Amino acid sequence: MQQRYTKTAIALHWLIAILIIGAFTLGLVMTNIPGFSMTKLKYFAWHKWAGVTVLLLAALRLLWRLFHRPPELPDGMPAWQRGAAHGLHHLLYVLMFAVPVSGYFYTLAAGFPVVYFNLFQLPVLIERNLELAETLKAVHYWLTMSMAALVVLHVAAALKHAIIDRDGTMRRMLPGRSL
Ligand code: HEM
Ligand code: HEM
Repeated sequence: MQQRYTKTAIALHWLIAILIIGAFTLGLVMTNIPGFSMTKLKYFAWHKWAGVTVLLLAALRLLWRLFHRPPELPDGMPAWQRGAAHGLHHLLYVLMFAVPVSGYFYTLAAGFPVVYFNLFQLPVLIERNLELAETLKAVHYWLTMSMAALVVLHVAAALKHAIIDRDGTMRRMLPGRSL
């Protein structure tokens, strides 16, 4: 039986995790820089590029996931824990899309097109609308904070399985030689 996630699923999990944590940190740092500066502008651009990259990789990841079943959970795991793990994973998948999409539409509503890596402009799907921008800013904030709370739960669960249960759950998502 398959013991681990596929190499592709593992690579996408960790790449997306690093980008989300990076975009989150940058988001907090950049919004706390007072006034206007080139550094602030640069951080906003990096934040948007990292976020859009998460969106693209999440689409790839979801497609991959639809065609590759994950390995079965350990036999002895109680039903409520299986349910909680599945529910949490579903929510994280939803937020991997909802968080960057809300940031993207907020930016457009505020009147700024997104120029990906300063190379090409991404589609301007809505017109400038400052009232909508205020709402989307709050939506982006609360979705992001909900995601942060769920990621903390997710990491706590992963560490509990690795350190207390030692049931191999963590190993399924770590790069290793045999698949
Ligand atoms: C995984 C993806 C993302 C995460 C985790 C994330 C996280 C955050 C965080 C933590 C903040 C600071 C919230 C605050 O204190 O107000 C923020 C603000 C912001 N984000 Fe994102 N974001 C993501 C994607 C995006 C994308 C794709 C865009 C646009 C293309 C974007 C545009 C913005 C903007 C413009 C702000 C500043 C809001 C303000 O002026 O207060 N974000 N984001
Ligand atoms: C922003 C950060 C993260 C997000 C969005 C995230 C999301 C996810 C999702 C959606 C899954 C389910 C994969 C699937 O079935 O297709 C998963 C699995 C997993 N994640 Fe994360 N993850 C993050 C960070 C982490 C971190 C930091 C750790 C370790 C400390 C971790 C450990 C694991 C493990 C061990 C699994 C496999 C669980 C199982 O076998 O059922 N994740 N993650």
